[in-house]
Amino acid sequence: MQINGKVYRTIWVENNIVKIIDQTKLPHQFIIKDLKTVKDSINAIKTMEVRGAPLIGATAAYGLVLSIIEKNDQSFLKRSSEDLIASRPTAINLKWAIDRMMKKLSGINSNEILKIALEEAKKIVEEDVKFCKNIGVNGLRIIEGIANKKKDTVNILTHCNAGWLATIDWGTATSPIYHAHQKGIKVHVWVDETRPRNQGANLTSYELNEEGIPNTIITDNTGGILMQRGQVDMCIVGTDRTLSNGDVCNKIGTYLKALSAKDNNVPFYVALPSSTIDWSIKDHKQIPIEERNSEELSHVEGVDENNKIKKVRIYPQKSKSLNLAFDVTPAKLVTGLITEKGICEASEKGLKGLFK
Ligand code: MRU
Repeated sequence: MQINGKVYRTIWVENNIVKIIDQTKLPHQFIIKDLKTVKDSINAIKTMEVRGAPLIGATAAYGLVLSIIEKNDQSFLKRSSEDLIASRPTAINLKWAIDRMMKKLSGINSNEILKIALEEAKKIVEEDVKFCKNIGVNGLRIIEGIANKKKDTVNILTHCNAGWLATIDWGTATSPIYHAHQKGIKVHVWVDETRPRNQGANLTSYELNEEGIPNTIITDNTGGILMQRGQVDMCIVGTDRTLSNGDVCNKIGTYLKALSAKDNNVPFYVALPSSTIDWSIKDHKQIPIEERNSEELSHVEGVDENNKIKKVRIYPQKSKSLNLAFDVTPAKLVTGLITEKGICEASEKGLKGLFK
């Protein structure tokens, strides 16, 4: 997708150096950063210079490539893979990508290993682009259906950033929106600010602006009244881990949006590539929910009048705060799952019908 009219992906490789867009600086500064070691990759994932389930999976895959460049040694590779998996716990794509890479790389001691690693990481990246594009083609049908009935702008609410910045290209939740816009369907997006990291305000609104898609940032608590007023035609969100029973783990606050959507008969869709499905655990209570530093709540970052990025504290110094990064939306609140293979019911039957 585009930034300042130039087409970018979120991650790419030049001369054995991994390049990323530093998302902690957006929308105020556009900085391309080099990842040269596996430690750089782990740090980029932990600090959220890269974030979003598919993108952290791809960064982890390239992290193993960097690990091999640093030291072609199986025990170093194994340690790197474990450290990468531990860098963020909730999005299953991270483990999925590392497992996929390690299947190809375990036990290989020849110099061929770098070529194999680069090829597999590239495959993961290209597959994600293709899957996200297909999610867009499949989800477009839903937006088209609403547009045909309504004969007016389709208002879509989204939470966090499940846009191209969270993937390699297209995004998951935003891909149907980009496809609709390219087809000439009038869309407008309600963008949840998404406290505390403000991925909606900082990233989703930014990328929609760059693509010329009308959008309005709202606080995380505004969606309910908009739905009551009939100002939301549908919700589309992404996911960090979808269980085989259709339960969806996504950015904190998704669950409350789904409850509100149910109460107001607003369709609530979740868009995902199959790399985000966790077939192994059956109970959402087993999903490790990331708890991040409470400073993300007590401090906010923005630019001052000289365009300098500044961080300020907004809470009383003595107050405690709790920063859970994800929640779970039960399948019963999800209208459908939009995947690369089609749209299905949020249930084991629905998912297995498409994938097994
Ligand atoms: O904490 P983040 O910014 O990595 O969380 C991202 C989300 O919750 C996204 O909705 C999810 O990863 C899907 S990305 C296509």
